[in-house]
Formats: sequence, C-alpha cells, structure tokens
Amino acid sequence: MSTIDYSSAIPNNVNLAEDRTLQRALEQWQPNYLNWWNDMGPDGSRDFDVYLRTATSVDPQGWAQFGYVKMPEYRWGIFLNPAEKERKIHFGDHMGENAWQDVPGEHRANLRRIIVTQGDTEPASVEQQRHLGLTAPSLYDLRNLFQVNVEEGRHLWAMVYLLHKYFGRDGREEGEALLERRSGQQDNPRILQAFNEPTPDWLSFFMFTYFTDRDGKFQLCALAESAFDPLARTTRFMLTEEAHHMFVGESGVSRVIQRTCQVMNELGTEDPAKLRAAGVIDLPTLQRYLNFHFSVTIDLFGADQSSNAAMFYSSGLKGRYEEGKRWDDHRLHGDSYRILQVRGDALAEQEVPMLNALNEVLRDDYIRDSVGGVSRWNKVIEKAGIGFRLSTPHKAFHRNIGSLAGVKVSPDGRVVSEQEWSAKVGEWLPTPSDRAFVTSLMGRVVEPGKYANWIAPPMVGINRQPMDFEYVRFN
Ligand SMILES: [Fe+2]
Ligand SMILES: [Fe+2]
Repeated sequence: MSTIDYSSAIPNNVNLAEDRTLQRALEQWQPNYLNWWNDMGPDGSRDFDVYLRTATSVDPQGWAQFGYVKMPEYRWGIFLNPAEKERKIHFGDHMGENAWQDVPGEHRANLRRIIVTQGDTEPASVEQQRHLGLTAPSLYDLRNLFQVNVEEGRHLWAMVYLLHKYFGRDGREEGEALLERRSGQQDNPRILQAFNEPTPDWLSFFMFTYFTDRDGKFQLCALAESAFDPLARTTRFMLTEEAHHMFVGESGVSRVIQRTCQVMNELGTEDPAKLRAAGVIDLPTLQRYLNFHFSVTIDLFGADQSSNAAMFYSSGLKGRYEEGKRWDDHRLHGDSYRILQVRGDALAEQEVPMLNALNEVLRDDYIRDSVGGVSRWNKVIEKAGIGFRLSTPHKAFHRNIGSLAGVKVSPDGRVVSEQEWSAKVGEWLPTPSDRAFVTSLMGRVVEPGKYANWIAPPMVGINRQPMDFEYVRFN
C-alpha cells in the first residue's frame, strides 16, 4: 500500500504517479528526509505557519504559489524544465551528438559524484542556518530565511530524484548518505569546506546568500549545459529559485548599509565606536565580512588547474557558464588561459591549457557577476553622501585552494610578509570582537512591521504584501 498521495503531496512533472520504482525509492527516503528536517531544519519552527511560495508546476504561475504552510508539511516537489526536442550536446568531444537521456556507463561514477557534491551543499546550508530564526530582525526576514531553507530542501530532492531514477542501488545509498553527513561535524562532515563553516549571525546569512548562493548559481549554470539531459533540465529549474536567494542576500546587505548610513548622517560621524554604540554595523566591519565570504566562496570553484575539470568538460558532463553564448569552438583543445601564481614576492600570470583552467574560468565569471551587487551597495552609500566604498578583495586574498592557497596577499593584491599579514589581518577579516559585536545586535523582532535597529525595512513586501503583514504566525 502506498503511503503517499503522489499527485498532491509531491508536486512533480516526472510522472511520479506511474513510476513504481521511483515511488518505492522515495517511500524509503522521504521519512528519513522528514526526520532530518525535524532534527536539522530551522530550530523550533515545527508548528509555525509561514507565508511561503511552493512550486507546483514549471510555468511562471505554478512555481510561485503563496500561502501559509507548516514547514514539515511543505510540498517538496520534483521539477525538470521541459525537454528540448532532440537536444544536442553542444560542447566537448561529443559535440553534435544527441544529449543523453540515460547515464552512459563510462561516465556513471563521475556524474554520480557531481550530483552528490551538488546535492550535499543543499542540506548543508539548511544546517548552517538552523539557529538564525531565533534572532531574526523581522517577520519579513524570518520568512525569507525559511523560504530559502525549504527551497534548499527542494534542491536536495532534485538531486535525490536523479540519484534514485538513474543510479539504482548506489544512487539510493548516496541519497541516504546525504541525510547523514552534518555541516561542521568532525567525523562525518559535509563535502565542501565552505559548507562546514557556521552561519552564526544575520550579517553572515546575507553575505552567504549573496556570495555563496551565487556560487550555487554558477555551478548550476555549468550543470545546466550538461550532456546528461535530466541533470541539465533539473538544474535549470533550480536556478529560478536561486535568484530569490541571491535577492535575499543583496537586499539584506543593502538594508544594513542603508541603516548604517542613516545613523552616520544623524550622528555626523564615521567613528566605528560611536556607530557601534548607536547599535549599527560600521562600514569597515561590513567590508571585513565581505572579504571573508567572498574569499571563502571563490575557493569553492576548486583548484585553478584541474585535470578533472578538463575531463568533465571534454566528456560533456559540465559546461561553462553560458556555454551557448560563446563564440569559440566549444572544444578548447589548444586554447590557453591565464591563471595567477606567485613568482618570487609578486603575483604573476601564467598561461596554461584552457581545458585545465576551466575552474578558473568559472571563478572569473563568478567574480565578474558578484561585483555588480557591490556597486549597487556603493550607490546606497553614495546616495547618503558618504565617501566610503566597499569592494571585493583581490582574488588571491585569503585563499585556501589551488596555487594561491596559503599565499599571504592583501585585499588590494600585494604579496605581503607574514609579519605584515599578522599586523593587518584584523583590518581585513572579521575579528573575534567584530563577530562578538555583530552577535550582540542579534535580537528577535517578531512584531509585524517592526525591524531591528541595525537594518532598514525592505522597499516592498513579499508578493506585494503590506509592510505590517504577518509573514509568520507562531502557534
Ligand atoms: Fe540550492
Ligand atoms: Fe540557494
């Protein structure tokens, strides 16, 4: 006897109601998923009614159904973008051949690894953020946190669908393991390091959703080009949700800046101590948080030279960002790319085969994209008549992977001595006292229409709701 009403409980466009094999796999997995959500999902939130959007189909109206939901009852669905007729592989050594509707034996292990690595980041971020609800600066922000969390949960479903549908028994085992690893846990951590760092406060959360969810966007964009068509279609749909996560980050940081600038003007001061005493986050502290999240996130793209990256591309598993809009031959044999290395006591460019540098290509695309929001943040500061400007640090700053790992480079791109690094690091990265100060601001504001002192209200409500809308009802 089936325990799940497939058509309504699990909105989907993968014909789940007819697919007995997939049903059986999900019947096993879903209770464990719910246990994981109850253990590791947003702290103490089980009975809250939250104004959430739920994807019920892939057309524009269908993926944004708003209504009050208790999160454990959220309808995590399975959606793929509609199939493109006779889609062809459009890069790598199989270019021009039909896209794969099933997993080719020779690529099975690598595809599984790619899907598991992507899937692992989704529950990891929910775990990293699970205590933030206790200190939300408003109901609006609390709702946005929960929206991001349930959608990361759905992204896990998306990857588990692929594992269940296309990878048989080892796919099912990987699906279970995704529920067993824990962010930050010593003996069974999440796969990627940035997803084992805590997200201890709301400034970190906004920086994370701006910078690290954007890494998600770029990884998903690269996978959306894949020759393995179900992966391409799944990740395309995930990107529609990712846009909101980055909006939460960009607008969140922007509102923090707006509030700080307002107090700077009211008090006529730039003095961090005075601003802190007034309960807002000074701009140099924001810059240090930005430096931290940017540098930790660009490490996620991997080593600047990687034979795996070359193989993933040539075999069609993973393309480049916007592969279809590029003018080259989409095979890249014989092409080269410049990466950064340290030579003596300076940074120098080195030409390497393009195929081996594809992680760096994606990282550079990411960097170009992420500076956009920073210049929009600067507009807020400029509009307030204040001279300070935020900037992304040099890409060699505070790196932990590839040829720049461990090299001491200042945010403006100078190789510095160990001595200078230790003397200045407190100006470049958040210090324990910065973090303690930001933590001290985190209080819980749950009265509709009210906002914590350190952040400005948003411009408009979610789904055009009024400013005092009750986004979360506590029961
Ligand atoms: Fe995600
Ligand atoms: Fe996300």
